[in-house]
Amino acid sequence: MQYEDVKKSLSNTPKTWLITGVAGFIGSNLLETLLKLNQKVVGLDNFATGYQKNLDEVQSLVSAEQWQQFKFIEGDIRNIKDCQHACNGVDYVLHQAALGSVPRSLADPITTNETNISGFLNMLVAGRDAQVSSFTYAASSSTYGDHPALPKVEDAIGKPLSPYAVTKYVNELYAEVFARSYGFKSIGLRYFNVFGRRQDPNGAYAAVIPKWTAAMIENDDVYINGDGETSRDFCYIDNTVQANILAATTTNDDAKNQVYNVAVGDRTTLNELFSSIKSALASSKVIYDKQPVYRDFREGDVRHSQADISKAKNLLSYAPQFDISKGINRAMPWYVNSLNE
Ligand SMILES: NC(=O)c1ccc[n+]([C@@H]2O[C@H](COP(=O)([O-])OP(=O)(O)OC[C@H]3O[C@@H](n4cnc5c(N)ncnc54)[C@H](O)[C@@H]3O)[C@@H](O)[C@H]2O)c1
Repeated sequence: MQYEDVKKSLSNTPKTWLITGVAGFIGSNLLETLLKLNQKVVGLDNFATGYQKNLDEVQSLVSAEQWQQFKFIEGDIRNIKDCQHACNGVDYVLHQAALGSVPRSLADPITTNETNISGFLNMLVAGRDAQVSSFTYAASSSTYGDHPALPKVEDAIGKPLSPYAVTKYVNELYAEVFARSYGFKSIGLRYFNVFGRRQDPNGAYAAVIPKWTAAMIENDDVYINGDGETSRDFCYIDNTVQANILAATTTNDDAKNQVYNVAVGDRTTLNELFSSIKSALASSKVIYDKQPVYRDFREGDVRHSQADISKAKNLLSYAPQFDISKGINRAMPWYVNSLNE
């Protein structure tokens, strides 16, 4: 089914969803869309990297009746009881909770492992035992590791380049084994550099778009790791939300027990990204006239990344509605408003 039809059908027959990592960037955007579609949502988060202010913002964007359909559980996916509690009575699980960031995983591989692997396994067990109708989880483009092919096709992966990449690959292995061993089929979405409103601009592990945007708004230096010709398939958040909703609701059995690239299918270099953020900010009257500061390449980073999205198009009817420039133009006013508050 096409996305618009899925949304209509959900509005007519509301379901109960669990979003883990609901106070984070992607989780809070899923929450916003699902509440606006009049769904019931349970959210689980321990605020490791997520924020109450993200939930408050969603509350301000939905009606009082819609907000009443949301139940928040402050809890930890490393605790199986929290996972079981959260899965109780749920139709669709969107498992987003994890510790993101390659550098964070290099600095603290143990906590990343506990959260991303043990926590993931807890959620799989809890979802299986609660007999949820579908289980969709956040996988990652980092699973392509050192495989040189471009664009990236789901079946051809290389060796992981960081502890984070190991954890995300292990998620896929567990997911497949749960289908084989218990008949519990899930769907993994390999996100490629998602960006948009509520993505955290602060801290040592901030992603490139919010980090640079904040630096430009505050007139600080913008650092480019390497020569700026490193490239990524940047994916605006609304495309990612679409992929989750399509994956969770698919009734096509061939589409289950699969992993999918979730991206746009384009490639943008860091140098191009710098210019595009700068000009989008200029439309919001933020003028940045410094040159970027180039420094060493970052450990664990892949050089180029671009997705082949035909599998998600064919099996899930995924149709990204935002390319990078449309996404950047949508995201920038949010940063200008929220950083100037
Ligand atoms: N943002 C991207 O570009 C990107 C790319 C690939 C994969 N991903 C994956 O997407 C998911 C969401 O990422 P995001 O960008 O929204 O990051 P985020 O840090 O904003 O959100 C993650 C959320 O998970 C929560 N969390 C962390 N550990 C937890 C625990 N032990 N128990 C309960 N909650 C916990 C955090 O508090 C946070 O709210 C993650 O699984 C991440 O690995 C993101």
